[in-house]
Amino acid sequence: MKVFITGGTGFVGTHLTKQLTAQGFQVTLLTRSLKPGRFLPRGAAYLEGDPTRPGPWQNEAAAHDIFINLTGASIFQRWTVEYKVTLRESRILTTRNLVQALSLDKEREKVLISTSAVGYYGFHQDEELDEEAPAGTDFLALLARDWENEAMKAEEWGVRVIRSRFGIVLGEKGGALDQMTSLFRKGLGSRLGNGRQWFSWIHQQDLSDALLFLINQKEFSGPVNCTSPHPVQNLELTRLLGEVLRRPVLLPPLPGFMLRLILGEFGNVLLKGQRVLPRKLISLGYPFRFPLLKDALNDLLKKP
Ligand SMILES: NC(=O)c1ccc[n+]([C@@H]2O[C@H](COP(=O)([O-])OP(=O)(O)OC[C@H]3O[C@@H](n4cnc5c(N)ncnc54)[C@H](OP(=O)(O)O)[C@@H]3O)[C@@H](O)[C@H]2O)c1
Repeated sequence: MKVFITGGTGFVGTHLTKQLTAQGFQVTLLTRSLKPGRFLPRGAAYLEGDPTRPGPWQNEAAAHDIFINLTGASIFQRWTVEYKVTLRESRILTTRNLVQALSLDKEREKVLISTSAVGYYGFHQDEELDEEAPAGTDFLALLARDWENEAMKAEEWGVRVIRSRFGIVLGEKGGALDQMTSLFRKGLGSRLGNGRQWFSWIHQQDLSDALLFLINQKEFSGPVNCTSPHPVQNLELTRLLGEVLRRPVLLPPLPGFMLRLILGEFGNVLLKGQRVLPRKLISLGYPFRFPLLKDALNDLLKKP
């Protein structure tokens, strides 16, 4: 089976590519730059092109069976008005162009895995959210909704569309965990705001395994939360990070107003959060390797 991945050179894609190639899939990664010296996942074929623009890459993409869209400018920074445009265009235009590429060969049976995020649901305090919950109304929620709507257009010609909503992905190299642990290792770890906000997360191994599992569920389509069954509150996340890293949390909580001052609107993502449950993955029988945060952190942070 041939897999085409946009945004596959990043944090999630590097791990996923390794898993896919190890299982015998032929993987092609589309990247905006093949400049020498850049780190690129091994085992895949490469195509240079900008997924936010139509181009010759679309003809080559059409000859694949499985499509995974991982492109997106990072949300982990202050969002200026211009950067919000980049956040939207890097996701929505890419999905639009990928869906257009899929339409070039309507004979082939195809699967599209579109990725969005648990930010789809907006902020909900303690309410448990499964795939039936509606989209929220803040910037990220509307972005996730529009991103998924673009992907669903591929259903018009019979493509099986899986709309995966990722929690925060915890992995060994890069991603949110790197940022958190570098603060804790310097003794700067602390609770954020009142610490009651929920943190929906997934171990990178479970994410890659769950995506492979969904590819093999031939009847499955629609939204699916890719999160661990046990989200935690920021208080618990802070405690566990301190414990696993053996760095006692000595600093007082970082006040919410200060975080908003430093990070602007993005600060809300860290201060509010959502409590998301992977009901679909559980009902399909996906066997989580790391359902508990403590085990996930021990696995990721205690390797030599
Ligand atoms: N990591 C998480 O915790 C998390 C959580 C929820 C959702 N997600 C979503 O999952 C997807 C993959 O996440 P990730 O952490 O692997 O992302 P990443 O490493 O930050 O980036 C993925 C790839 O997107 C491409 N890209 C970056 N900025 C772009 C831009 N302005 N225009 C076009 N392409 C751009 C880059 O590919 P090239 O430079 O090779 O073109 C990059 O390798 C993203 O859409 C992200 O929003 C991630």
